[in-house]
Amino acid sequence: MAGGSLLAPSLANRQINYKGRTTIPVLLACIAAASGGLIFGYDIGISGGVIAMDDFLIKFFPTVYVRKHAAHENNYCKYDNQGLQAFTSSLYLAALFASFGASYVTSNKGRRPTMLIGGLSFLVGAALNAAAENLAMLIIGRMMLGVGSVPVYLSEMAPPKLRGGLNIMFQQAVNFGILCANLINYGTANLQPWGWRLSLGLAAVPASLLTLAAIFLSDTPNSLIERGHLEQGKSVLQKIRGTPDVEAEFQDLVEASRVASTIKDPFLSIFRRKNRPQLTMAVLIPYFQQVTGINVITFYAPVLFQSIGFHSNASLYSAVITGLMLIIGTGISIFTVDKFGRRVLFLHGGILMFIGQVVTGLVLAFEFKGNEELSRGFAVVILVVTCVYVVSFAWSWGPLGWLVPSEVFALETRSAGQCITVAVNMLFTFAVAQSFLSMFCHFRFGIFLFFAGWVVVMTLFVHFFLPETKKVPIEEMQQEWSKHWYWRRFAQEQENQDDSKP
Ligand code: BGC
Repeated sequence: MAGGSLLAPSLANRQINYKGRTTIPVLLACIAAASGGLIFGYDIGISGGVIAMDDFLIKFFPTVYVRKHAAHENNYCKYDNQGLQAFTSSLYLAALFASFGASYVTSNKGRRPTMLIGGLSFLVGAALNAAAENLAMLIIGRMMLGVGSVPVYLSEMAPPKLRGGLNIMFQQAVNFGILCANLINYGTANLQPWGWRLSLGLAAVPASLLTLAAIFLSDTPNSLIERGHLEQGKSVLQKIRGTPDVEAEFQDLVEASRVASTIKDPFLSIFRRKNRPQLTMAVLIPYFQQVTGINVITFYAPVLFQSIGFHSNASLYSAVITGLMLIIGTGISIFTVDKFGRRVLFLHGGILMFIGQVVTGLVLAFEFKGNEELSRGFAVVILVVTCVYVVSFAWSWGPLGWLVPSEVFALETRSAGQCITVAVNMLFTFAVAQSFLSMFCHFRFGIFLFFAGWVVVMTLFVHFFLPETKKVPIEEMQQEWSKHWYWRRFAQEQENQDDSKP
């Protein structure tokens, strides 16, 4: 059955009849989601500054500390240590497994318990990290932080017309978390010898907000309806829309839930040949997002800048670069994504990211001797091109790496597609975190050319294989695939099968 025939007439047309305003529960849900994004960003941003702190290295990685201060040590290799990388990467491995657990708990018990478990485990993780006495406590704490998923909750509470924008706002909350983490690291770096404990422990602030919001929020109407609590679902919908007149939206939710229950095996479905375009996107979009190399900057900018000679200013520079540039870039995305479309942002972002990485690679190749520092002038060049790289990531692959997968799946492959997207993203976030410092030691400047090569591949891929999803309602996505010059050979099989049905 084609996705388009499931909810005819077009859902987009019927949404015009939905009533309601933005109410306190919706705002609370936004705060919860924003804290989810904030924690995620905080955890991304905090580890890099912490591993650059001497007190932290002396306590957990004394060999790295000795190497860092050895006069003629090769700068490319000072931080090459598997344990150090595991401190950063373990979070994403745990998140990968937790996302499967979260989807099980969510479909059986509702959204709220998932949020509550997420919030509590963030709190335990922050406490373990702040009090850490050994590597095991650090890593177990980081793994606890990896548990928790909120964006889905947000997208269900938001009025339909706001969903796309809110998806990108989540990304902005992540960026804001990254900026906060870097600024906090800048401040705590001078609080010796316990500054790193404060950095890691402060994750408890947004975690408490999330936990409180989970306690005070009701479950989402979608989740209640899907689990058969129709009356309860309707009254929550009335409460969150601030009007008793919610019949149109309620009926659509009931219908959507009926349709969802007829979709038997979304995982089998996405592996069918006719859904090959959707499976390809579910795997390649998150993979490409991670091999842009962005998390080399978000995770390791402080050690990267220290390695090439920025010394104590490294954490300030990385705060400005990773935080502010991400926020500016994503701001540009919010205002242009529905005007220019996804493909334009992807293509321009790709070209600028490529230039940024190639210039960085070449400056390091010709101007940076492994055991000396970079001259002032070239250090500034690296700073500028890194800003260009980060800002262009932040208007393209950053937000779109999540937004586009939420738009390309037809109804019957949607849940499986999104699950694969999250899993692939976490898997490769883990891989980059666990391997970058070693790759930097062995590939040296070549690592930037390696990522630049992937940026060329993904930009060509978008140009040739990604259809524009701007303003395409989800139920009409299947038709888009059947119109595409390449994917139609797969997607049209679906239409032929539909035609043969009575
Ligand atoms: C990515 C993260 C990245 C962040 C930076 C997200 O879209 O999934 O891996 O750290 O953007 O803003």
